[in-house]
Amino acid sequence: KKINEGNVTWSSPSNIALVKYWGKKEHQIPENPSISFTLNNCKTTTTLSYSKKENTNNFSFDVFLDGDKKEDFKPKIETFFKRIEAYLPFLRDYHFKIETSNTFPHSSGIASSASGMSALALCLMSIEKALSEDISEAYFNQKASFLARLGSGSACRSIEGDLVVWGTHKEINGSSDLFGIKYPHDVHENFKNYQDTILLVDKGEKQVSSTVGHDLMYNHPFAERRFEQAHENMSKLISIFKTGDLNAFIKIVESEALTLHAMMMTSMPYFILMKPNTLEIINKIWAYRNETNSKICFTLDAGANVHVLYPENEKENVMEFIKDELIVYCQNEHYISDQIGFGANQI
Ligand code: PMV
Repeated sequence: KKINEGNVTWSSPSNIALVKYWGKKEHQIPENPSISFTLNNCKTTTTLSYSKKENTNNFSFDVFLDGDKKEDFKPKIETFFKRIEAYLPFLRDYHFKIETSNTFPHSSGIASSASGMSALALCLMSIEKALSEDISEAYFNQKASFLARLGSGSACRSIEGDLVVWGTHKEINGSSDLFGIKYPHDVHENFKNYQDTILLVDKGEKQVSSTVGHDLMYNHPFAERRFEQAHENMSKLISIFKTGDLNAFIKIVESEALTLHAMMMTSMPYFILMKPNTLEIINKIWAYRNETNSKICFTLDAGANVHVLYPENEKENVMEFIKDELIVYCQNEHYISDQIGFGANQI
């Protein structure tokens, strides 16, 4: 089909890993499998407008964030386009206008790469779909995830929900290093509507970009053992999701978060990405769990902010605890209430 111009809009969420992806091979292939909760409220909405151009020598695009033109986003998108052009032959045929906005504040320390790259990948897939005869929904989602991975690894886990696996694991049928899949096994109702309250300890720019971070796993003294451990933790999670054993869930999730940070502390060069307030919050969460029957736990990304995870039936109590005891450790008392979500939507 021939199309001269058009536009498409997708809204795509962020995700929070339970078993972490940290370390990759060439072409954005992960060193180990990872699994994440898709989020519901932290999202990027992107409108992609496209118009046919004469000259097909170069990529041509402009990027806007909240209406402001962003020159500094261009190199990342140029790299993304180079990586995916073999899979989307129309990329040089159009001029693109990429208009994007996030539901979470720009300088919140919340990475927008997962939601942003998945939203852009989905918009591009909609163009492919418009140009092609027929594309099934399964193919559409799989290829969108494949493309998103080439933008930012963890972005491939944001297309669908509510639990997504990326990376080959022997007990997970259909799992692939090339794209994320919906977690295919049973999930106990204890995990339904799981909550994630994100405590913004440090809203600054990331101290270590994830590109630099992944590279630190080359020649890392503990890398091999770490990659094996991720496989083991995935196996354990399969039975935990089946039985609903929240105590076992907590152990895996918190250990994964601390292991991610331990990898950064033991690389060369080494980094400490937690802040004193990150540790204050962790200690308060542990004390609260000792004093109550709560199944609250924490996880971390490659930064100082804390994701507080808990079952929906504890929402009222945990929010009271967060407001009374944890918010003082957040920058400007800032936090984001989120919960498990079901993936991207076309608008
Ligand atoms: O998608 P990247 O390359 O920005 O890597 C993200 C890695 C972590 O967020 C730290 C862990 C994960 O699995 O999401």
